[in-house]
This record gives sequence, C-alpha cells and structure tokens, in this order.
Amino acid sequence: MFYFPKERLLFLLVLLLVSILLFAACEKDKDKPVTPTTSQEQDLSNIAYQPTFTNIDRPSNFPVMDIPVDNPLTQEGIELGRRLFFDPILSANNEMACASCHFPSKAFTDDLAVSIGIENKAGTRSAMSLINTGYYTKGLFWDGRIASLEEQALLPVEDPLELNHDWSTVVADLKKQTPYPSLFRQAFGIDNTGEITKELTVKAIAQFERTIISSNSKYDRVVRGEEFFEDEEFNGWFMFFDVGGDLPDAECAHCHNAPLFTVNDYFNNGIDSVADLTGFKDLGLGAVTDRVFDNGKFRAPTLRNIALTAPYMHDGKFQTLEEVIDHYNEGVHFIDNVDPLLLKPDGLGLSEQNKKDLLSFLHTLTDTSFVNNPAFQSPF
Ligand code: HEC
Ligand code: HEC
Repeated sequence: MFYFPKERLLFLLVLLLVSILLFAACEKDKDKPVTPTTSQEQDLSNIAYQPTFTNIDRPSNFPVMDIPVDNPLTQEGIELGRRLFFDPILSANNEMACASCHFPSKAFTDDLAVSIGIENKAGTRSAMSLINTGYYTKGLFWDGRIASLEEQALLPVEDPLELNHDWSTVVADLKKQTPYPSLFRQAFGIDNTGEITKELTVKAIAQFERTIISSNSKYDRVVRGEEFFEDEEFNGWFMFFDVGGDLPDAECAHCHNAPLFTVNDYFNNGIDSVADLTGFKDLGLGAVTDRVFDNGKFRAPTLRNIALTAPYMHDGKFQTLEEVIDHYNEGVHFIDNVDPLLLKPDGLGLSEQNKKDLLSFLHTLTDTSFVNNPAFQSPF
C-alpha cells in the first residue's frame, strides 16, 4: 500500500496554510510599491548543496575529539565559520570581530591583561587562547561556566563588554550580505535566507574552532623523534614532568600535562593574597558552583604556545614567563584551597639555572607552523 507518513502530511498542511496566508498578504499589498525589506526571503535552492564531510586532522599523540552529532564538520561549515570569526558584522557599528580579541598571530589571544570590548570598555578577564579548545570537555571559560563551543559563541555578540550587538540584527544582516546566503546554503542545506539563524551561525563558528589545533611545536617534533632538545630544554623537560634524575620537581605536569598541556581541571594556584576564601576579587569556579571551597579556582589553561600569549593568568597579573616561574617557585600565597602540590615549605627550590632551563622548555611549546597556518588567517 502507498505509505504516507503522518508528519509529512502535517508538514504539507502547514505549508499549504502558510502559502494561502502569504498569497492573501501579497494580494492585499498588491498596489504598494515593492521595497525590499529585511524579512524578504531569498530562494537558495538553485545553489548546490554538496557538503564535504571532514575529520579533525588529529595528531597520533592526541585524544579523539568529541564532535556533537548535530554539528558534524564539513569543509563548507568550517569555511563559513572562519569568515564569521573574522567578520565585524557580528558587532555593533561593525567595529570588532571575534578575532579582535583572539588573533592568530598571538595564538588566538590579544596581548592584553583584560580584554577591551566595543567603545573601549574593559572586561574583567584575559582573553583565552583558542588552541585545541575542541578538546576542553569540562567546561569553557576560565571558570567553566559554559558547556560547549556552540553555546559559547552565542555570548560575545550580546555581551556589552564585547561585541555589544543583538542577534536579530546580526541575523538580518547575514541574510542580506553576499556571500553569506550561499555560504549558509552550502554549509547547512537551507532552502531560503529565512532559515539563517543564530544557531546555525554559532554551529559554523564552532566547526572552525574545532579545527584550531596546535600540535607541531618543537616539543611534538622531539616526541615524534624528528628532532632533539638542547641541553637546557632537556633539563626543563625533566623538571616539568619530574621524570627523575637529580633535578628538582617543578610539579607543572600535574595540572598542565601532555599532550594538551592542561589536565582540563580547576585549581587555585595561589596567585591571590586573600584573608579568607570569600576575599577573591573574582570568585572563578566558586561563582559557578556556589561552593566557597571553589572560590579562587580557575581552569588550568593549556601551555601550548605560552610564549606568545602574555600577559598571564585570568587577570593578566604576570607580564612574563619569568614572573610566572618565580611565582610557582617562591611566591604562592597560602589559603585553604590552594593545591597542596604548590605548598612545599621551601617552595619548588629551583635555582637560577633551573628556572632558565624550565623557561627554555616552555619555549619548545611554541608552534610557528600553527600561528602561520593559512587555514586560520582572515579570509578578508
Ligand atoms: C572583547 C574581547 C573578546 C571578543 C570580541 C571575543 N572574545 Fe572570546 N574570550 C574573551 C575573554 C576575555 C575570554 C575569557 C572569558 C571568561 O573566562 O569569562 C574569552 C573566552 C573565549 C572562549 C573560551 C575558551 C576556553 O578554552 O574556554 C572561546 C571559545 C571564545 N572566547 C570564542 C570567541 C568567539 C567565537 C568570539 C566571537 C563570537 C569571541 N570569543 C569574541 C574575549 C573576547
Ligand atoms: C595545582 C595545579 C597547577 C600546577 C601544579 C601548575 N599550574 Fe600553572 N596554572 C594552574 C591554574 C589553575 C592556572 C590559571 C590560574 C588563573 O588564571 O587564575 C595556571 C596558569 C598558568 C600559566 C598562565 C597561563 C595563561 O594562559 O595565562 C602558566 C604560564 C603556568 N600556569 C605555568 C605553570 C608552570 C611552568 C608550572 C610548574 C612550575 C605550573 N604552571 C604548575 C594550575 C597549576
């Protein structure tokens, strides 16, 4: 027997109803001059929709990335996402883009202690590098308050301290501006511009972000047996991972372990001097979980390309990596929830030479092929 699914019938009925209404509306307005409005929808079905599904180019020493089933990667989606990432169309007055605070040459950070948004309004935290963010499954942002890249990308557009715009205008602009309608068609198979939404926009951005992978630093090449460390770098590697020998243990790998150089968890690393756990200027994880013991804890960020992302910490408190190493070596402020690894009675006990060696190792995490990768540059 001829099978006709119920949903399809319903869909056809709705379509019919909409057509009648539209027809009636057109009839009524027949004598008015036709002025193109933002709500006018453009048919896109004549443009080919042949998405090229693609995989993350995953280095062998990297974990598998979890890609949401409802947002598979396609070359068309990634390309659209890249364009959106660099396009000031997302901001009020066309002033800023995502890339204004996350520039590729700075490993997707912005050189500033705290980010500056539209009209020079300062935020409260330092822009995070977007390296390998597709792997961060235990919450995004310094405090982990956001679960996915899709969810994250919704926020900067309407944040008054960032792009300070509104999604309805952004979507209306995207519907009008070539080549967006055809790019959305090619990426997501929409039939007309009316189907462009903020949800599809952030899906494309998230696809692009998942491709931002850095895995070709000197460290990686040494691990793959293609190169050797210099003596200083080798000593630094020993201390960072505490692989034995008579060099002091710098404890770093407990929180910044390979291959991502973050264990993706939240700690208080003792950068703030406070009288008690309620005294932090920025509560970090505590504001999200509402637990006092989480106050002052932040996500341990990746140390990949760390030489490119000064200043350091969530508030940009340290200007140089030397200052960071001095902090861990002898400057950790005690409060109940500081990680015990950082509370040795005499600090880490690194000599001047040890500190230099550790710094040399951190420099081996710089990946110039990543920074200069044409796939991550502005398409404009
Ligand atoms: C005004 C500067 C600014 C703009 C514009 C901006 N960001 Fe950010 N971004 C930040 C700051 C600051 C943080 C850290 C915020 C926090 O922890 O509260 C951040 C964090 C992130 C993170 C989290 C990374 C991680 O590892 O957790 C992602 C992803 C991100 N931004 C993507 C974007 C995208 C996509 C856009 C454009 C839609 C954008 N950003 C626009 C400053 C900015
Ligand atoms: C107990 C966990 C822990 C240990 C051990 C640890 N870190 Fe961190 N690290 C963190 C956390 C958490 C942050 C972010 C803190 C913040 O911004 O408030 C951080 C931030 C950093 C940053 C700044 C990153 C950025 O993007 O701004 C650097 C650099 C760094 N650590 C290097 C090291 C080095 C080198 C060692 C070893 C000497 C080390 N860390 C040991 C947890 C740790």
